Amino acid sequence: MVDITLYLDEKCEEVDRFLNAVVPDTKTAPATLHDSMRYSLFAGGKRIRPILAIAAAEAVGKPSRAILPVASSLELIHTYSLIHDDLPSMDNDDYRRGKLTNHKVYGEAMAILAGDALLTLAFDLCSRTDLMDGLTPVLQLQIIRELAQGSGHSGMVGGQVFDIQAENKNIDLATLQTIHTHKTGKLIRASVRMGALVVSATPEQLESLTHYAEDVGLAFQIADDVLNVIGSREELGKDANTDAQRGKKTYPSFHGVEGAKALAEQCAARAISRLESFGSPADPLRELARYITARRK
Ligand code: IPE
Ligand code: IPE
Ligand code: MG
Ligand code: MG
Repeated sequence: MVDITLYLDEKCEEVDRFLNAVVPDTKTAPATLHDSMRYSLFAGGKRIRPILAIAAAEAVGKPSRAILPVASSLELIHTYSLIHDDLPSMDNDDYRRGKLTNHKVYGEAMAILAGDALLTLAFDLCSRTDLMDGLTPVLQLQIIRELAQGSGHSGMVGGQVFDIQAENKNIDLATLQTIHTHKTGKLIRASVRMGALVVSATPEQLESLTHYAEDVGLAFQIADDVLNVIGSREELGKDANTDAQRGKKTYPSFHGVEGAKALAEQCAARAISRLESFGSPADPLRELARYITARRK
């Protein structure tokens, strides 16, 4: 049995140590940029995406030092997406990860630039050959491409566009699902696939893990929608009830809170069933599916 709390703490620490080493310190020019990048990066995110990448690599089973730069690149992209998502021209939010949002502290221009720099650093990390520990160049390129597709127009950024365009519209459930699979799902999918690619997963392993990731991604976003209704700023570290205020249809608007919770649990169960061909090394992935669904923040 995996103690998921312990597992999350351990992996979080490893990722944080690595990120701390690769992001320039606050004395290096341009100091304000580095300060702003670090402010959001080390504000206490759960590190779900890098941890999914690490757990996927462990499920396949051949440890590699290359996992940390690859996993950390996902957190850089995710943090950039949150900084930009909170901007006045986007969601206009004041709190994130229990602190004032980046633009509230550093101003809009610096927040945009900190996001840009985090995004770029993610690709820098994945393209470093010195950190890739024997990975073939072809595999490394495949990993970089996964990151691009999970985060760009066909992934997270595309999903943000769908999300904004759906505000105050009476969208149907299929449209909501398209928003979710792009906005959050594609980066989570990339996380699991990138982790598996680092340790040269077979096509069959990659396929099962991809199905797992798609189910977990949906469970994650349904849980996020539910927390937006039932959580508080103290618990979530960001303002609650914002979806209703912005006229956003979410899973609870279609299914009610209890119905949405049940749906998230079904997604998690389906995700776990995708791992049948994996033995106990996939236990952290199984526990992560449960944690992502039942989390309180
Ligand atoms: C929140 O993501 C934003 C969404 C993509 C829905 P997380 O819940 O992973 O946020 P952090 O990283 O822990 O702050
Ligand atoms: C954020 O989605 C998703 C990103 C890609 C950044 P939301 O706008 O729904 O999430 P919160 O409520 O700000 O975390
Ligand atoms: Mg948003
Ligand atoms: Mg938002």
